[in-house]
Amino acid sequence: MATKKKKIEWVCSECGGTTVKWAGRCPHCGEWNTLKEFVVETGAAARFGDSRHKGLVSASEVLDLNDVQAQEVPRIVTGFQEFDRVMGGGLVCGGVSLIGGDPGIGKSTLLLQVMHRLVHQDVRCLYVSGEESPGQIALRAKRLGLEPQGLRLMSEIQLEKIEATLLEEKPQFVVIDSIQTLFSDQLESAPGSVTQVRECSARLTRIAKSSGITLIFVGHVTKDGSLAGPRVLEHIVDTVLYFEGDTHSNFRLIRAFKNRFGAVNELGVFAMTDRGLKGVNNPSAIFLSEHKANVPGSVVMVTQEGTRPLLVEVQALVDTTHLPSPKRLSVGIDQQRLSMLLAVLHRHAGLACFDQDVFVNAVGGVKITEPAADLAVLMAIYSSLRNRSLPEGLVVFGEVGLAGEIRPAPRGQERLKEAAKLGFSRAIIPRANAPKQPIEGLEIIAVDRLSNAIDAIR
Ligand code: TYD
Ligand code: MG
Repeated sequence: MATKKKKIEWVCSECGGTTVKWAGRCPHCGEWNTLKEFVVETGAAARFGDSRHKGLVSASEVLDLNDVQAQEVPRIVTGFQEFDRVMGGGLVCGGVSLIGGDPGIGKSTLLLQVMHRLVHQDVRCLYVSGEESPGQIALRAKRLGLEPQGLRLMSEIQLEKIEATLLEEKPQFVVIDSIQTLFSDQLESAPGSVTQVRECSARLTRIAKSSGITLIFVGHVTKDGSLAGPRVLEHIVDTVLYFEGDTHSNFRLIRAFKNRFGAVNELGVFAMTDRGLKGVNNPSAIFLSEHKANVPGSVVMVTQEGTRPLLVEVQALVDTTHLPSPKRLSVGIDQQRLSMLLAVLHRHAGLACFDQDVFVNAVGGVKITEPAADLAVLMAIYSSLRNRSLPEGLVVFGEVGLAGEIRPAPRGQERLKEAAKLGFSRAIIPRANAPKQPIEGLEIIAVDRLSNAIDAIR
């Protein structure tokens, strides 16, 4: 009998690219030290050889785009409003999504709640858990107060068995909790390894696409918060969602990071209660801290998350340092950007912080990625440095350039309207965002340079 021949492959943990030889740098994405050795094929695998390399969507002939019928994608509306919003208006039939987040943040809870709603709309559902026993899931369902009739459940980690079940049960909606626990018999590497994750997700995706199953993978995240496993996982799926928020507060945010069927950066806001996750209708209120009187170092900004403006409080603390190199620490705001903004503040507004520790925080565990937060960060730093609170009812937004100019932020009007709606009376904003018609109850201070903005609050 022929001996089993092992084939070694080097797989990049960033992009999932493969090479036959080790190299210090991945030839596909250029990342250093990301190639890891994997035994990819055994004798058994070779037999399944061709099916492993089928495309994710069925192949078509060359067509003229004009002749292709653009169809609206059919969606299943779950009725869980905040969840539907992040998905771009409901789950897309045959769409494959990936949802990542820290352990214990509520991924399994959310999906169980979503599934429960679908079961009541007579959608055939299947929950595949590789992490919990049916007993544990039943316990959670009971705690959530769900009626479990019709909710099909399976504790399994072997890909082949799951595939067989999908073909036999023909569910319309499937949750795989989590993709890192699955393994295929045909591969020798351990569950959770790059090859296993890539193979399992690609094969399940293929089944989902060919039989119109709506599929959601739960994914683990690494220490720095990105999804564990190969980057290629994010390329395979249609939608990537991230659970954000710190586990100490009750609020949970779900952000669409990639969406082939909707807007990215769309945000769903939930509160974790003793009966599971509940949608939050007025999220702006929760990101403003509780204190009534204005305090130094605090300013409210309007950030635009997806299609929805959101008011968030930005806080800064500037304090004399006792260290040779002062601290620059930020939570929810990019640290590199903070250093850059401090340099701009020194150069263009004459305020030096080189003998000060600077801490910046976005309240409520929200992460602000857009540059429109710049002006708010600098205002908060100014306020803390001078130990003077900013005028009451003030909101700000705007990007600060290296030359000290204030640049416009997208969708300025919507931001201003949201601020006015929540009772704010004054706004310091980029000149290019100044509205043509006055907004009732809101005094607009349009600025084009950082020095103007600082003058406005002096
Ligand atoms: P879980 O969905 O198991 O997290 P993940 O799948 O992301 O690891 O969520 C578990 C946490 O949620 C746990 O710390 C308890 C909390 N929780 C509630 O606060 N209320 C509830 O009704 C449930 C079911 C969980
Ligand atoms: Mg879980």
